[in-house]
Amino acid sequence: MSAPSPEQAAGTQLERWGSDSDNLLQMLIGVQAALGHIPEAAIRRFEAALGVGRARIEGLIGFYAFLHHRPRGRFDIRVADNIIERMRGSRELAEALAGRLGCPPGETRVDGRLSLGYTPCIGMSDQAPALLVNGYAIPAVEHARLEQVVALVEANTPLADWPPELFEVALNIQRKDLLLEAAVEDGAALAALKASGADALMQVLEASGLRGRGGAGFGLARKWGFCRQAPAEAKRRVVVCNADEGEPGTFKDRVLMQDPQQAARMFEGMTLCAGMVGADSGFLYLRGEYRNLLEPLERELQRRRDAGLLGKNIAGIAGFDFDIAIHLGAGAYICGEESALIESLEGKRGNPRDRPPFPVTRGYLGRPTVVNNVETFIAAALVAVQGADWHRARGTEHSAGTKILSVSGDCARPGIYEYPFGVTLQQILDDCGAADTQAVQIAGAAGRTIPPDEFQRRVAFEDLGTAGSFMIFDQSRDLLEMVRNFNDFFVHESCGFCTPCRVGTTLMQKTLAKVSRGHAAPMDLDTLRRIGELMRRTSHCGLGATAPLSVLDTLDKFPALYRDRLSDRGFVPGFDLDAALSEARAASGRDDPRAHLEGDGV
Ligand SMILES: Cc1cc2nc3c(=O)[nH]c(=O)nc-3n(C[C@H](O)[C@H](O)[C@H](O)COP(=O)(O)O)c2cc1C
Ligand code: SF4
Repeated sequence: MSAPSPEQAAGTQLERWGSDSDNLLQMLIGVQAALGHIPEAAIRRFEAALGVGRARIEGLIGFYAFLHHRPRGRFDIRVADNIIERMRGSRELAEALAGRLGCPPGETRVDGRLSLGYTPCIGMSDQAPALLVNGYAIPAVEHARLEQVVALVEANTPLADWPPELFEVALNIQRKDLLLEAAVEDGAALAALKASGADALMQVLEASGLRGRGGAGFGLARKWGFCRQAPAEAKRRVVVCNADEGEPGTFKDRVLMQDPQQAARMFEGMTLCAGMVGADSGFLYLRGEYRNLLEPLERELQRRRDAGLLGKNIAGIAGFDFDIAIHLGAGAYICGEESALIESLEGKRGNPRDRPPFPVTRGYLGRPTVVNNVETFIAAALVAVQGADWHRARGTEHSAGTKILSVSGDCARPGIYEYPFGVTLQQILDDCGAADTQAVQIAGAAGRTIPPDEFQRRVAFEDLGTAGSFMIFDQSRDLLEMVRNFNDFFVHESCGFCTPCRVGTTLMQKTLAKVSRGHAAPMDLDTLRRIGELMRRTSHCGLGATAPLSVLDTLDKFPALYRDRLSDRGFVPGFDLDAALSEARAASGRDDPRAHLEGDGV
């Protein structure tokens, strides 16, 4: 089948999404998928049909990593390249693909058959190395699989005809507790809402001590309560499930959404929330890297509509009307930050908003909006049925219940582990078969780097809070490579809106490179500290405020990493003026290096 024309591709999207410019990002994602890029003619069609300026469309294409102005190859291959993937051979994989397919990373082959590149973590750290082909994930790409991919590309086999087993992703659930073991029937949370009413259930949620599982640990009942009380036109509130899961090393939301029972609970939790706060519309914001989950999740939504668990008069509650749409992300980590996510849902660049006002009072299109994590909605649906004591039976005083962790790196059994809050790092390391551990990176690139003498610390909001990433590094690893990989990630993902983050991450990148080359002096380490602390204090959002943590932690807790690489000179310039001038000197026939340092040098 031949590809549609740009006008046809844009027309299909306009038919699917209507003439509302809030859906512009989704339409661009659709055109990108159909044509491999967003051609000029499609842009013009959107300009005319939606009445939006060209700058907005260009701005979106420039902002989202998965959108492109220029054609990509028919097979757009991106090798996941976070630190865990690197430890599992992502660079070697990319080089092998480049060699076998004749296309260096970062380029498109001249015949247009493929593009090859890197992408940050795609939520497959337990099955690394992994890659995306046209947005679809292929895990565990060892030698035989690599040869299979090469053969399919060279044979020009349409992606739809590639063997389905290539795309099979294991759940890898290694430890279950309260949430993953609960046997609760579909629809039970909505039946509880019907039986008890929203006020009584709000008290149950309050008593359960349930806190958000997306990282910050905000009290669920408080958040839903604020939204409930926020002035809004009748039932015009909004519920959003944050399934952007971009934190390197995190993949538990992917597993939860892949498991049909948990996916059903997530939607049920969202619906419960809608019933309790008075919302008529909901969104699942699904990261673009989880494109392969879109169809199964759409099917689950349809099943729920057919079963009367979504739509009108839900669960037999008169006037309870609510439905959920799935919106895809397009390769921007910052869109996990809730206000950036809402901007993205409105079809804009994912720039974090000024807060206050918070989304619970002014969120999507100015309407009061609850944003919660996938795991949080599942927990809420279960607490509504099982009660507060069931939830309080696990965990600590300030962190009730359990936490699902994504364990990866140097251990025998990577995968998903559910633990009561309060579990020690050492316990987790023992359970997953980690030995000779040098450091644990908890809460992802934006989290803390923990040395062995702190392995008795606990996963809990009162000690080490986390959205779930738990990366393990044994003694053979160079932690400076880890720090540099994280910092490169932040350089790439900074939205550029504020100076401390945009410039700070880049300055750190240069200084870390200097340390790595053995050219740094003690004052460079002071510079790293000063930049890091400035970023923590003055960044506009959580990305910039947490980006320097691994640098600051390793400077404090692993000082030898830096000290052993220092040049013994007191000052080493970051810029080699002599080398920079050499070309000009040669062009003008001069042969006087260092002239700028001696005499007047004219
Ligand atoms: C840079 C950045 C990225 C984030 N990414 C995510 C994410 O992928 N998933 C998520 O649930 N929360 C993420 N958050 C936290 C959200 O802003 C928000 O606090 C969360 O979705 C609220 O849900 P919860 O209360 O259920 O934890 C991120 C925050 C920041 C600053
Ligand atoms: S801190 Fe970084 S990501 Fe956040 S607004 Fe500033 S530039 Fe953007």
